[in-house]
Amino acid sequence: MKILAIESSCDDTSIAVTNGNNVLSNVISSQPIHTEFGGIVPELASRSHINNISRLTYSSLEIANLKFVDIDAVAVTSEPGLMGSLIVGSSFAKGLSLKYNLPLIPVNHIEGHIYSGCLEDETLEFPFISLVVSGGHTSLFLVKSYSEYEVIGMTKDDAAGEAFDKTAKLMGLGYPGGPIIDKLAKEGNPTEYEFPRSMINSDDFDFSFSGLKTSVRYFIQKNFELPLNELDKKNLAASVQAAIVDVLKHKTYKASKKYKVKNIVIGGGVSANSLLRKKFNELESKGFKIVLPKMEYCIDNAAMIGFLANKKIEHSKRKYNDLTFKVSSRPMRSK
Ligand code: KG4
Ligand code: ZN
Repeated sequence: MKILAIESSCDDTSIAVTNGNNVLSNVISSQPIHTEFGGIVPELASRSHINNISRLTYSSLEIANLKFVDIDAVAVTSEPGLMGSLIVGSSFAKGLSLKYNLPLIPVNHIEGHIYSGCLEDETLEFPFISLVVSGGHTSLFLVKSYSEYEVIGMTKDDAAGEAFDKTAKLMGLGYPGGPIIDKLAKEGNPTEYEFPRSMINSDDFDFSFSGLKTSVRYFIQKNFELPLNELDKKNLAASVQAAIVDVLKHKTYKASKKYKVKNIVIGGGVSANSLLRKKFNELESKGFKIVLPKMEYCIDNAAMIGFLANKKIEHSKRKYNDLTFKVSSRPMRSK
Protein backbone atom coordinates (compact mmCIF):
# COMPACT_ATOMS: atom_id res chain seq x y z
CA MET A 1 0.00 0.00 0.00
CA LYS A 2 1.47 3.35 -1.06
CA ILE A 3 0.82 6.00 1.56
CA LEU A 4 1.38 9.73 1.26
CA ALA A 5 2.20 10.86 4.80
CA ILE A 6 2.08 14.39 6.17
CA GLU A 7 3.74 15.67 9.35
CA SER A 8 3.34 19.28 10.47
CA SER A 9 2.87 19.11 14.24
CA CYS A 10 5.54 21.62 15.21
CA ASP A 11 8.11 23.55 13.16
CA ASP A 12 9.13 20.96 10.56
CA THR A 13 7.07 20.29 7.46
CA SER A 14 7.67 16.76 6.25
CA ILE A 15 6.07 14.71 3.48
CA ALA A 16 6.90 11.06 2.86
CA VAL A 17 5.77 8.30 0.57
CA THR A 18 5.89 4.82 2.08
CA ASN A 19 5.12 1.45 0.58
CA GLY A 20 4.60 -1.08 3.36
CA ASN A 21 7.75 -0.94 5.47
CA ASN A 22 9.71 0.82 2.72
CA VAL A 23 10.29 4.55 2.65
CA LEU A 24 10.26 5.79 -0.96
CA SER A 25 10.80 9.43 -0.01
CA ASN A 26 10.96 11.51 3.16
CA VAL A 27 11.45 15.23 2.63
CA ILE A 28 11.84 17.43 5.70
CA SER A 29 11.90 21.21 5.68
CA SER A 30 12.74 22.98 8.92
CA GLN A 31 11.92 26.62 9.62
CA PRO A 32 14.98 28.80 10.30
CA ILE A 33 12.67 31.80 10.86
CA HIS A 34 12.36 30.86 14.57
CA THR A 35 16.10 31.24 15.21
CA GLU A 36 15.93 35.01 15.53
CA PHE A 37 13.21 34.71 18.22
CA GLY A 38 15.15 32.16 20.31
CA GLY A 39 12.24 29.68 20.18
CA ILE A 40 9.26 28.54 18.12
CA VAL A 41 6.63 31.17 17.33
CA PRO A 42 3.42 29.15 16.70
CA GLU A 43 1.82 31.65 14.31
CA LEU A 44 4.97 31.75 12.14
CA ALA A 45 5.17 27.96 12.22
CA SER A 46 1.68 27.52 10.76
CA ARG A 47 2.29 30.18 8.11
CA SER A 48 5.49 28.42 7.03
CA HIS A 49 3.66 25.08 6.81
CA ILE A 50 1.10 26.69 4.50
CA ASN A 51 3.85 28.08 2.29
CA ASN A 52 5.76 24.79 2.09
CA ILE A 53 3.30 21.94 2.21
CA SER A 54 2.18 21.82 -1.40
CA ARG A 55 5.67 22.20 -2.89
CA LEU A 56 7.08 19.54 -0.56
CA THR A 57 4.29 17.13 -1.48
CA TYR A 58 5.15 17.40 -5.17
CA SER A 59 8.84 16.97 -4.48
CA SER A 60 8.21 13.92 -2.27
CA LEU A 61 6.08 12.34 -5.01
CA GLU A 62 8.77 13.14 -7.57
CA ILE A 63 11.52 11.50 -5.48
CA ALA A 64 9.29 8.43 -5.08
CA ASN A 65 8.71 8.55 -8.85
CA LEU A 66 4.93 8.48 -8.34
CA LYS A 67 1.87 10.60 -9.08
CA PHE A 68 -1.23 11.27 -6.95
CA VAL A 69 -3.14 8.59 -8.86
CA ASP A 70 -0.59 5.97 -7.68
CA ILE A 71 -1.28 6.71 -3.99
CA ASP A 72 -3.56 4.34 -2.04
CA ALA A 73 -4.04 6.30 1.21
CA VAL A 74 -3.17 9.54 2.99
CA ALA A 75 -1.81 9.63 6.56
CA VAL A 76 -1.46 12.72 8.71
CA THR A 77 -0.31 13.67 12.19
CA SER A 78 -3.44 14.64 14.13
CA GLU A 79 -2.03 15.05 17.68
CA PRO A 80 -0.29 16.27 19.80
CA GLY A 81 1.36 19.48 18.64
CA LEU A 82 0.76 23.15 17.97
CA MET A 83 -2.90 23.58 17.06
CA GLY A 84 -2.32 25.88 14.08
CA SER A 85 0.43 23.64 12.66
CA LEU A 86 -1.72 20.51 13.06
CA ILE A 87 -4.68 22.21 11.38
CA VAL A 88 -2.57 23.05 8.29
CA GLY A 89 -1.45 19.44 7.83
CA SER A 90 -4.81 17.85 8.55
CA SER A 91 -6.77 20.26 6.33
CA PHE A 92 -4.35 19.59 3.48
CA ALA A 93 -4.65 15.84 4.06
CA LYS A 94 -8.46 15.99 4.16
CA GLY A 95 -8.42 17.93 0.89
CA LEU A 96 -6.26 15.28 -0.81
CA SER A 97 -8.39 12.49 0.59
CA LEU A 98 -11.57 14.12 -0.79
CA LYS A 99 -10.10 14.97 -4.17
CA TYR A 100 -8.57 11.55 -4.84
CA ASN A 101 -11.12 9.54 -2.86
CA LEU A 102 -8.50 8.01 -0.58
CA PRO A 103 -8.69 6.61 2.96
CA LEU A 104 -7.30 9.04 5.54
CA ILE A 105 -5.41 7.74 8.57
CA PRO A 106 -4.88 10.12 11.52
CA VAL A 107 -1.69 9.23 13.41
CA ASN A 108 -0.47 10.28 16.85
CA HIS A 109 2.88 12.01 16.52
CA ILE A 110 4.42 10.47 19.64
CA GLU A 111 3.31 7.01 18.55
CA GLY A 112 5.17 7.77 15.33
CA HIS A 113 8.35 8.41 17.36
CA ILE A 114 7.77 5.29 19.47
CA TYR A 115 7.61 2.97 16.46
CA SER A 116 10.40 4.70 14.52
CA GLY A 117 12.63 1.96 16.01
CA CYS A 118 10.63 -0.65 14.06
CA LEU A 119 10.98 1.46 10.92
CA GLU A 120 14.73 1.54 11.38
CA ASP A 121 15.21 -2.08 12.38
CA GLU A 122 12.76 -4.69 11.12
CA THR A 123 14.26 -7.30 13.45
CA LEU A 124 13.25 -5.30 16.54
CA GLU A 125 10.93 -7.40 18.69
CA PHE A 126 8.24 -6.45 21.21
CA PRO A 127 8.30 -5.63 24.04
CA PHE A 128 10.70 -2.71 24.06
CA ILE A 129 11.29 0.43 26.07
CA SER A 130 11.02 3.63 24.09
CA LEU A 131 12.50 6.94 25.20
CA VAL A 132 11.07 9.85 23.21
CA VAL A 133 13.20 12.87 23.91
CA SER A 134 12.73 16.11 22.01
CA GLY A 135 12.09 19.83 22.39
CA GLY A 136 8.49 19.15 23.43
CA HIS A 137 8.55 15.65 24.93
CA THR A 138 10.46 13.50 27.35
CA SER A 139 8.60 10.25 27.97
CA LEU A 140 9.26 6.59 28.57
CA PHE A 141 7.01 3.89 27.15
CA LEU A 142 6.72 0.15 27.57
CA VAL A 143 5.71 -0.95 24.08
CA LYS A 144 3.99 -4.32 23.79
CA SER A 145 2.66 -4.34 20.23
CA TYR A 146 1.63 -1.98 17.46
CA SER A 147 -1.58 -1.24 19.31
CA GLU A 148 -0.58 -1.51 22.95
CA TYR A 149 1.81 0.53 25.04
CA GLU A 150 2.04 2.00 28.48
CA VAL A 151 3.27 5.47 29.39
CA ILE A 152 5.61 4.62 32.26
CA GLY A 153 7.14 8.04 32.78
CA MET A 154 7.12 11.59 31.51
CA THR A 155 8.53 14.96 32.37
CA LYS A 156 6.70 16.90 35.03
CA ASP A 157 7.84 20.22 33.58
CA ASP A 158 10.41 20.97 30.84
CA ALA A 159 11.42 18.49 28.15
CA ALA A 160 15.10 17.55 27.86
CA GLY A 161 15.44 19.45 24.57
CA GLU A 162 13.95 22.49 26.28
CA ALA A 163 16.62 22.15 28.99
CA PHE A 164 19.31 22.23 26.29
CA ASP A 165 17.66 25.19 24.54
CA LYS A 166 17.05 27.24 27.69
CA THR A 167 20.54 26.60 29.03
CA ALA A 168 22.00 27.73 25.71
CA LYS A 169 19.92 30.90 25.92
CA LEU A 170 21.20 31.62 29.44
CA MET A 171 24.75 31.13 28.15
CA GLY A 172 24.13 33.63 25.35
CA LEU A 173 24.25 30.97 22.62
CA GLY A 174 21.87 30.57 19.65
CA TYR A 175 18.74 28.50 18.99
CA PRO A 176 18.24 25.56 18.90
CA GLY A 177 20.69 25.15 21.75
CA GLY A 178 21.08 21.37 21.74
CA PRO A 179 23.46 21.06 18.77
CA ILE A 180 25.50 24.10 19.95
CA ILE A 181 25.92 22.68 23.47
CA ASP A 182 26.77 19.26 22.00
CA LYS A 183 29.55 20.82 19.91
CA LEU A 184 30.97 22.97 22.73
CA ALA A 185 30.83 20.06 25.19
CA LYS A 186 33.20 18.01 23.04
CA GLU A 187 36.03 20.29 24.22
CA GLY A 188 34.78 20.85 27.77
CA ASN A 189 35.18 19.06 31.08
CA PRO A 190 31.91 17.36 32.16
CA THR A 191 33.00 17.22 35.82
CA GLU A 192 34.07 20.87 36.04
CA TYR A 193 30.70 21.89 37.55
CA GLU A 194 28.10 19.79 39.35
CA PHE A 195 24.51 20.39 38.24
CA PRO A 196 21.43 18.69 39.73
CA ARG A 197 20.25 15.33 38.38
CA SER A 198 16.62 15.92 39.39
CA MET A 199 14.53 12.84 40.24
CA ILE A 200 17.36 10.49 39.27
CA ASN A 201 16.72 8.35 42.34
CA SER A 202 12.93 8.69 42.51
CA ASP A 203 10.94 5.45 42.50
CA ASP A 204 9.05 6.35 39.35
CA PHE A 205 10.19 6.91 35.78
CA ASP A 206 9.27 10.58 35.59
CA PHE A 207 11.66 13.40 34.77
CA SER A 208 12.05 17.03 35.78
CA PHE A 209 14.38 19.46 34.02
CA SER A 210 13.15 22.89 35.10
CA GLY A 211 15.33 22.87 38.26
CA LEU A 212 18.41 22.39 36.11
CA LYS A 213 17.62 25.53 34.13
CA THR A 214 17.14 27.53 37.36
CA SER A 215 20.34 26.17 38.80
CA VAL A 216 22.29 27.12 35.65
CA ARG A 217 20.76 30.62 35.77
CA TYR A 218 21.88 31.27 39.38
CA PHE A 219 25.24 29.60 38.84
CA ILE A 220 26.02 31.87 35.90
CA GLN A 221 24.77 34.98 37.74
CA LYS A 222 26.94 34.15 40.77
CA ASN A 223 30.15 33.03 39.08
CA PHE A 224 30.49 34.63 35.66
CA GLU A 225 30.20 37.82 33.73
CA LEU A 226 28.50 37.77 30.36
CA PRO A 227 29.61 37.28 27.66
CA LEU A 228 31.18 34.00 28.78
CA ASN A 229 34.68 33.22 27.61
CA GLU A 230 35.21 30.16 25.38
CA LEU A 231 36.60 27.88 28.10
CA ASP A 232 33.73 28.63 30.48
CA LYS A 233 31.23 28.00 27.68
CA LYS A 234 32.80 24.62 26.93
CA ASN A 235 32.94 23.51 30.57
CA LEU A 236 29.41 24.70 31.30
CA ALA A 237 28.09 22.98 28.16
CA ALA A 238 29.83 19.71 29.03
CA SER A 239 28.65 19.80 32.66
CA VAL A 240 25.01 20.57 31.79
CA GLN A 241 24.96 17.98 29.03
CA ALA A 242 26.35 15.34 31.39
CA ALA A 243 23.60 16.09 33.92
CA ILE A 244 20.82 15.72 31.30
CA VAL A 245 22.22 12.56 29.72
CA ASP A 246 22.89 10.94 33.12
CA VAL A 247 19.23 11.22 34.10
CA LEU A 248 17.93 10.02 30.73
CA LYS A 249 20.20 6.98 30.71
CA HIS A 250 19.73 6.08 34.36
CA LYS A 251 15.92 6.17 34.22
CA THR A 252 15.71 4.28 30.93
CA TYR A 253 18.08 1.63 32.24
CA LYS A 254 16.08 1.32 35.47
CA ALA A 255 12.84 0.96 33.48
CA SER A 256 14.28 -1.77 31.27
CA LYS A 257 15.48 -3.66 34.37
CA LYS A 258 12.12 -3.32 36.11
CA TYR A 259 10.13 -4.49 33.09
CA LYS A 260 12.80 -7.09 32.15
CA VAL A 261 13.09 -5.74 28.64
CA LYS A 262 16.30 -5.99 26.64
CA ASN A 263 15.38 -3.75 23.68
CA ILE A 264 15.62 0.03 23.99
CA VAL A 265 14.65 2.55 21.28
CA ILE A 266 15.46 6.25 21.49
CA GLY A 267 13.77 8.85 19.29
CA GLY A 268 13.32 12.63 19.07
CA GLY A 269 15.77 15.43 18.29
CA VAL A 270 17.82 15.03 21.49
CA SER A 271 18.79 11.52 20.38
CA ALA A 272 21.20 13.29 18.01
CA ASN A 273 23.28 14.19 21.05
CA SER A 274 26.69 12.59 20.78
CA LEU A 275 27.13 11.92 24.52
CA LEU A 276 23.65 10.40 24.73
CA ARG A 277 24.40 8.08 21.79
CA LYS A 278 27.71 7.04 23.32
CA LYS A 279 26.26 6.45 26.79
CA PHE A 280 23.28 4.43 25.55
CA ASN A 281 25.43 2.39 23.16
CA GLU A 282 27.55 1.39 26.17
CA LEU A 283 24.52 -0.59 27.40
CA GLU A 284 25.05 -3.05 24.53
CA SER A 285 27.91 -4.56 26.56
CA LYS A 286 25.32 -5.37 29.27
CA GLY A 287 23.25 -7.38 26.78
CA PHE A 288 20.82 -4.64 25.70
CA LYS A 289 19.89 -4.00 22.11
CA ILE A 290 19.98 -0.24 21.55
CA VAL A 291 18.18 1.20 18.51
CA LEU A 292 19.07 4.79 17.70
CA PRO A 293 17.29 5.41 14.39
CA LYS A 294 19.13 7.49 11.81
CA MET A 295 18.59 11.20 12.28
CA GLU A 296 15.96 11.60 9.57
CA TYR A 297 13.75 9.16 11.52
CA CYS A 298 14.62 10.63 14.95
CA ILE A 299 13.63 14.22 14.25
CA ASP A 300 10.08 15.08 13.23
CA ASN A 301 9.46 13.25 9.95
CA ALA A 302 6.57 11.92 7.90
CA ALA A 303 8.17 8.53 7.18
CA MET A 304 7.34 7.37 10.71
CA ILE A 305 3.75 8.57 10.21
CA GLY A 306 3.36 6.63 6.94
CA PHE A 307 5.01 3.53 8.43
CA LEU A 308 2.67 3.50 11.43
CA ALA A 309 -0.39 4.26 9.27
CA ASN A 310 0.42 1.13 7.28
CA LYS A 311 0.62 -0.93 10.49
CA LYS A 312 -2.74 0.49 11.63
CA ILE A 313 -4.36 -0.60 8.36
CA GLU A 314 -2.75 -4.04 8.65
CA HIS A 315 -3.79 -4.53 12.28
CA SER A 316 -7.32 -3.09 12.38
CA LYS A 317 -10.59 -3.49 10.53
CA ARG A 318 -11.35 0.24 10.61
CA LYS A 319 -12.33 1.87 7.33
CA TYR A 320 -10.48 5.17 7.81
CA ASN A 321 -13.01 7.25 5.92
CA ASP A 322 -13.71 9.81 8.64
CA LEU A 323 -12.93 13.31 7.43
CA THR A 324 -14.38 14.95 10.52
CA PHE A 325 -11.65 14.09 13.04
CA LYS A 326 -10.32 17.01 15.03
CA VAL A 327 -6.68 17.76 15.77
CA SER A 328 -5.64 17.97 19.40
CA SER A 329 -2.75 19.21 21.50
CA ARG A 330 -3.44 16.89 24.45
CA PRO A 331 -0.56 14.75 25.79
CA MET A 332 -0.25 10.95 25.59
CA ARG A 333 -2.10 8.27 27.53
CA SER A 334 -1.42 4.53 27.78
CA LYS A 335 -3.10 2.29 25.22
O1 KG4 B 1 12.37 16.21 17.65
P1 KG4 B 1 12.78 17.62 17.38
O2 KG4 B 1 13.48 17.89 16.07
O3 KG4 B 1 11.55 18.58 17.44
C1 KG4 B 1 10.63 18.58 18.49
O4 KG4 B 1 10.92 19.24 19.52
O5 KG4 B 1 9.59 17.88 18.37
O6 KG4 B 1 13.72 18.06 18.60
C2 KG4 B 1 14.25 19.35 18.70
C3 KG4 B 1 15.06 19.40 19.98
C4 KG4 B 1 15.58 20.80 20.30
O7 KG4 B 1 15.31 21.08 21.66
C5 KG4 B 1 17.06 20.69 20.04
O8 KG4 B 1 17.84 21.56 20.84
C6 KG4 B 1 17.32 19.24 20.38
O9 KG4 B 1 16.21 18.55 19.86
N1 KG4 B 1 18.55 18.73 19.75
C7 KG4 B 1 19.63 18.34 20.45
C8 KG4 B 1 20.62 18.01 19.50
N2 KG4 B 1 20.10 18.17 18.25
C9 KG4 B 1 18.82 18.62 18.43
N3 KG4 B 1 19.83 18.29 21.77
C10 KG4 B 1 21.04 17.87 22.18
N4 KG4 B 1 22.05 17.53 21.33
C11 KG4 B 1 21.87 17.58 20.00
N5 KG4 B 1 22.88 17.24 19.17
ZN1 ZN C 1 8.52 15.02 17.57
